[in-house]
Amino acid sequence: MKALIISLILVFLSFILFSQEANYDESEVPDYKLPQLLVSKSGKEIKTKNQWLKDRRAEILIDFQEEMFGRVPGELKFSGIGLMEENNSAVNGKAVRRQIRLFFNRNEKEIYIDVLMYLPKTPKPVPVFLGLNFLGNQTVYNDPEIYITNSYIINNSELGITEHKATGQSRGGKAYRWGVEKLINSGIGLVTACCGDIDPDRDDFIDGVHPMFYKEGQTEPLPDEWGTIAAWAWGLSRIMDYLETVKEVDSEKIVVLGHSRLGKTALWAGAADQRFAAVISNDSGCGGAALSKRAFGETIGSINQAFPHWFCGNFKKYGNNEAELPFDQHMLIALIAPRPVYIASAFDDQWADPKGEYLSGYYATEVYRLFGLKGLESPDPPQINSPIMGSVSYHIREGEHDLKEFDLDQYIKFVELFVIK
Ligand code: GCU
Repeated sequence: MKALIISLILVFLSFILFSQEANYDESEVPDYKLPQLLVSKSGKEIKTKNQWLKDRRAEILIDFQEEMFGRVPGELKFSGIGLMEENNSAVNGKAVRRQIRLFFNRNEKEIYIDVLMYLPKTPKPVPVFLGLNFLGNQTVYNDPEIYITNSYIINNSELGITEHKATGQSRGGKAYRWGVEKLINSGIGLVTACCGDIDPDRDDFIDGVHPMFYKEGQTEPLPDEWGTIAAWAWGLSRIMDYLETVKEVDSEKIVVLGHSRLGKTALWAGAADQRFAAVISNDSGCGGAALSKRAFGETIGSINQAFPHWFCGNFKKYGNNEAELPFDQHMLIALIAPRPVYIASAFDDQWADPKGEYLSGYYATEVYRLFGLKGLESPDPPQINSPIMGSVSYHIREGEHDLKEFDLDQYIKFVELFVIK
């Protein structure tokens, strides 16, 4: 009886804590103190890029691994590659389309990632955009030859996705986000895969890549082991392993990008894996580019409640307790330095805290300066639709939470300026 009463009280208290309305009022942002980027845990001041790389970067990376995204518990490379389909005159004859299946085996379990590529036909190896998609490869371009995903995906009634299964109705449904023809015309390839191939986006750890690492009797990752976002980022690194073997791809010019939860994923993939040449985060919000300690819009408490599987178990302790967080998202951006990073917000997407997304880039800029690079130099965000281009780039676009043509146009320019050069 006593236990029942205690648990009822706990449920009630967590309801009160987590059901707090999101704050959208700048004057209600709590006073917060960001952990310093350029002072190491032992108190040493970081003054040079070498000190940053040697003394500071690794300790920040470990904090994000152990307290937020979760550690990858072991090594696993693809065990086989299947060429499912190839066509040398896709996109009006301008590109090669290839569909590849990457197999992973361990613990008597198997998963596979279906990778779709469009590569412009040029004599030289090409730069590519690599990003996961939400709803299957068939949504990224209106091309009847793309295989429809079998993976569990989130429902989308507009695209006829009910019961978490895609049908032909979703073909090309998100083509505006990927601009395949525009990329090809700019000499950039596209490589994509469905996030559900790596781990279905639902609150359990019984499918996808996680169980492949379980010890006997284990049913979920340990508190410091990977959640779903870290698993997706792991998948991006495995696709990178594969791309390093593709002769038409310039593996030094692979730009990882993503929208929203997959924008959080792109940031973590780029922070953890230095092979990515640049990172683009579109409307990534809480757990992505937005500073957590501002608690503006979506908070750690609300994200952990709505999506308990995204981050590791240890991250739960910071819900409604941002002051205790030993890092903040400006440090995630700084982990990408000196590689270029683009952070984008949308004005109507206050849930993602556009100002907090800008500020993390602004505060991270001091690390870029150690490398003689420029980023976001003003503490005030720019006007709507006025991109700032630098090693840390930023824009806030008018309109809603999405990846629109305006966003993509800036990303192409950014990559031309800072990656292709
Ligand atoms: C929700 C979630 C966000 C996330 C977004 C998305 O809005 O709260 O954190 O970025 O979904 O992935 O679309």
